[in-house]
Amino acid sequence: MLRFQSMVISSCLLLAVTAKKLQAQRLIPQPTQVTATTGVFKLSGTTAIVGGNSAGEAKYLQEAFNNRIHLKLPLQPAAQNNYIRLSLNAKLDSTLGKEGYLLKVTPAGATITAASNAGIFYGIQSLQQLIRYNETNGFTISGVEVKDKPRFGWRSFMLDEGRHFKGAAAVKKLLDEMAALKMNTFHWHLTDDQGWRIEIKKYPLLTKVGGHRDSTQTGSWNSTVYDGKPHDGFYTQDQIRDIIAYATARHITIIPEIEMPGHSAAAIASYPWLGTQHTPIKVPGKFGVHYDVYNVADPKVVTFLHDVLDEVMQLFPSKVIHIGGDEVKYDQWKADAGVQAYMKANQLATPADLQIYFTNAISAYLAGKQRRMMGWNEIMGAKLHEYNDNKDVSTTQLAPGTIVHFWKGELKLINDAVSKGYDVVNSYHAATYLDYNYEQIPLEKAYAFDPIPAGLDAKYHSKILGTGCQMWGEWIPDEMSMEEKVYPRLAAYAEDGWTLPANKNYREFEKALANFYARWSENSIFYHR
Ligand code: ACM
Repeated sequence: MLRFQSMVISSCLLLAVTAKKLQAQRLIPQPTQVTATTGVFKLSGTTAIVGGNSAGEAKYLQEAFNNRIHLKLPLQPAAQNNYIRLSLNAKLDSTLGKEGYLLKVTPAGATITAASNAGIFYGIQSLQQLIRYNETNGFTISGVEVKDKPRFGWRSFMLDEGRHFKGAAAVKKLLDEMAALKMNTFHWHLTDDQGWRIEIKKYPLLTKVGGHRDSTQTGSWNSTVYDGKPHDGFYTQDQIRDIIAYATARHITIIPEIEMPGHSAAAIASYPWLGTQHTPIKVPGKFGVHYDVYNVADPKVVTFLHDVLDEVMQLFPSKVIHIGGDEVKYDQWKADAGVQAYMKANQLATPADLQIYFTNAISAYLAGKQRRMMGWNEIMGAKLHEYNDNKDVSTTQLAPGTIVHFWKGELKLINDAVSKGYDVVNSYHAATYLDYNYEQIPLEKAYAFDPIPAGLDAKYHSKILGTGCQMWGEWIPDEMSMEEKVYPRLAAYAEDGWTLPANKNYREFEKALANFYARWSENSIFYHR
């Protein structure tokens, strides 16, 4: 009996040891399926990259390995062993979709198979995370089979540069980290009250005047302290094209956001006729929601917006164009006789009706150029803000096909949107706003966010395109203060967008973050500790 027991114990121990030995490494975001296999692949300077039809990804892989582990791997048309092979196979589309991949590592080499180069690219990201180093064996990857695809097709990070301009180097650094985390959408908030950051050739004052402010509020929302320093910055169209190319090489789509009709003080400071006041204003250095809004009843203003959107669409290949639409104060429209006459002529009962009427016309303009409008969920017409009157809501139907970017209000507003047929990106502020501090949104809370709200009928789940996390720029004057807010929460949001709920586990995620802390340190990223 004793002997038998000890045999059972020892075989259990053996099993436990084997299981431990073959325990698959935890990645971020955690894949759909990871199976540890036997054997180890040893990487060396002679490991060949066999790129097949994925030349761009092969080159990316070569550069990434050179930068990160200082191995300059040769690109070769074929190899029998000691290879990293990239293999496109369109048939996988039916099981793994456009972004899924298979990764198989054996002692002979690593093979990444996918239906598209986006999948190949994500396989490369997983492969990089699996590399281990020790002095005896050098760089190795344990045998493994990974089968993976994202839960959502929209995995976004938003950067607000209206409030504080960061510049191309900072943006590229962010794009690199997004790519490592398999995020595929960079939502670029380029215009706001406090700054206009995109060159528009037809209206040069937008950047000359609107890209500059004399002084900036510091501290917090109620602060009366200003720094007394000018703040400037904008992207030329050439710089924007360069950044788009950089993002495209990382399978990231850039969604530009051009705010209308509110958050437009910098534009109105540039061209006072865009507003209803017609008196010059300065680009505000104070944060918070401003009163200045476009005079959407004036056809000249609408033409201006079309012209701006034309240049934006020429630059950005993205199918989706974000038009903001959030936090419009209606006071100026209410006070303006021209706007009131326009509302009457078009049978618009409330200023919210006017906003949606205007927004729908913009949607039609974009649709005429094969683009799709997206806007913050104010464009559904509900009252979300205490500064608007209770009666200032709208019953006007928002243009079909619009993507509603949910951020504020009761969660039932999501139900309202999807049941009316709209696609939704869920960026609920209390869970996804990176300007919130770590007391408000600790890492664990960021990690726990499910883009599909509890209680949403399963028949609407496919209407949730995914999720975004938002780095609003008021209180992050420099890159370091921005990074402290972004990292490590970006990794949590990446997993919220990619990983199936059944595969999520905060404790394991936390442990796997060690890999990223090392990476961020190497990349001179100031993460929150
Ligand atoms: C927003 O936070 N105003 C979308």
